[in-house]
Amino acid sequence: MKTYPGDFVLDPMGRRVPLHGEEGFAAMRAAGRVAAACLDHLTPYVQPGISTGALDRIADAFMRDHGATPATLGYHGYPKSCCISPNHVVNHGVPDDQVLLKEGDIVNIDVTAILDGWYGDTSRMYLVGTVNPRAAHLVRTTYDATMAGINEVAPGKHLGDVGHVIDRMARAVGYSSVRDYVGHGIGRVFHDAPDVMHWGKPGRGMKLVPGMIFTVEPMLNQGGPGLRQLDDGWTNITRDLSLSAQFEHTVGVTADGVEIFTLSPAGLDCPVGAIKPLSR
Ligand code: MF3
Ligand code: CO
Ligand code: CO
Repeated sequence: MKTYPGDFVLDPMGRRVPLHGEEGFAAMRAAGRVAAACLDHLTPYVQPGISTGALDRIADAFMRDHGATPATLGYHGYPKSCCISPNHVVNHGVPDDQVLLKEGDIVNIDVTAILDGWYGDTSRMYLVGTVNPRAAHLVRTTYDATMAGINEVAPGKHLGDVGHVIDRMARAVGYSSVRDYVGHGIGRVFHDAPDVMHWGKPGRGMKLVPGMIFTVEPMLNQGGPGLRQLDDGWTNITRDLSLSAQFEHTVGVTADGVEIFTLSPAGLDCPVGAIKPLSR
């Protein structure tokens, strides 16, 4: 990668998008791996009856045991070490000892680990016990849309290509892609340029160049795209109380494609096996 410290491009709003070389990619590999391994570690604990507060403490301890710190703790006043968002919670669910997971829930856990000053940001869905087929379909569709979006990442492609395929896959089965939160540049800062919309037009939006690092993190709702924020100032739920799902990976644009920094070391990226299209 022919980049040097300080190299950058500008996003459509004129904000600097840093370009990272091999050292940055190596650092992101390490940070991404801690975050992904943390999500792996949580898997056996996601059972009926556990509180989201207890899961947060397990995530916090894992990150610290691996030389990392939780990026969300104290971030703009956020009080916990990860975000845990069950069922109709879209994102930024605040872990709480009073919130107990129950059989049939679907739940997103989103962790961001800071390792040596570099941020690895990833989330995935978990199934609590046995989940109904409609909920499982949302989870798998959201995973497939996330990976299809990431598959569009390559030099010369555009962020509009990424967003377009995600939104198209959501709409194809009657789901909606949330518009109020987007993916983001990441690296030595948590949330950086560019914005990564989970909708768009092919060939539009920022052109991708090697060295860019950002997240792809679509939230798909079974109903409409509208959100409502709870009085805690963080938790976002679907306005129509429909189920919502999200996956997130941190990725880098390479010379000829994409590198995913946050793949599950244990192969636990998605809890639902491949599905056929719904017949109706
Ligand atoms: N990890 C989230 C993201 O994907 C950000 C959470 S910020 C918090 O960007 F303050 F809500 F924790
Ligand atoms: Co993110
Ligand atoms: Co995240």
